[in-house]
Amino acid sequence: MIAPAQTGNLASLAHLDLEQEIARLKREMNAVILAHYYQDSEIQDLADFVGDSLQLSQQAAATSADVIVFAGVLFMAETAKILNPDKLVLLPDLKAGCSLADGCPAHLFRPFRARYPDHIVVSYINCSAEVKALSDIICTSSNAEKIIRQIPPEQPILFAPDQHLGRYLMKKTGRELRLWPGSCMVHEMFSERSLVQLKQRHPQAMVLAHPECAEAVLRHADYVGSTTGILNYAKQSPANEFIVATESGILHQMEKACPEKTFISAPGEGGCVCSECPHMKLNTMEKLYLCMKNRKPEITLDEELRQRALQPIVRMLEMS
Ligand code: 13P
Ligand code: SF4
Repeated sequence: MIAPAQTGNLASLAHLDLEQEIARLKREMNAVILAHYYQDSEIQDLADFVGDSLQLSQQAAATSADVIVFAGVLFMAETAKILNPDKLVLLPDLKAGCSLADGCPAHLFRPFRARYPDHIVVSYINCSAEVKALSDIICTSSNAEKIIRQIPPEQPILFAPDQHLGRYLMKKTGRELRLWPGSCMVHEMFSERSLVQLKQRHPQAMVLAHPECAEAVLRHADYVGSTTGILNYAKQSPANEFIVATESGILHQMEKACPEKTFISAPGEGGCVCSECPHMKLNTMEKLYLCMKNRKPEITLDEELRQRALQPIVRMLEMS
């Protein structure tokens, strides 16, 4: 399905001005670089667009570039390819997966879904193309509530793969959702106990949390939302101090937008700061340069699968 990863000799790149080389390749290839907020700050700074999952898929749907370079993880690049079958879609490291997508393989999701034939399947965008193809509507953290609210109240819903986002949606909408038991390895690490202790040391700080966090953490949040939602909240808030319960890459844009404010990463158990996504952080400037130079690794998808996965994404874009 996917071309083999191309690593290249990273050591031989030491003499290159990677920023300049990437800018040159971008012009030559007519490429657009889309980056998620969880990428390293140097990658965010050279991207054409930095955003949350919904914004990145909207950008991918709208771009006129010939090549999409996705500085993110596999499910994001796959989504871009599903929307752009004729464009070259590159991902710097094909091993950049996601614990939510990996924890919901299609061969297990298919029989799970079959147990609830009367349920409409709403899947979080953090899933494989195969699972998207088994879904009725895709959502992201920024449009999930809006999408659930558009489904008639008598219609039962199966929600996959993030149980924490699912539980948050149940609380917000009052709807009963049948949940797939998946979770994000990064957001699940935040500890309620350490967060409460940190709040005691910073009583003025607002807690901003992503809905992939467990309910025990979300309970202490002043704001719950997508990465863009968290960034925008910090920008418009009169508060000066924030505890941020999501992947630490977002702090780069927060600090850039609000240099006078203080942002603290939410802690894990024992106070450790373990909020880096190991998948997102597989992408580096070197790999970004190499994937553009070599025009691989590229995302390829079986056309029949792509068409089935496209329908629920189009539905999401229409309902957003
Ligand atoms: P959003 O950027 O849509 O909030 O999603 C966060 C995430 O986990 C991406 O992997
Ligand atoms: Fe997946 Fe979590 Fe990493 Fe996002 S932060 S890509 S949900 S593992």
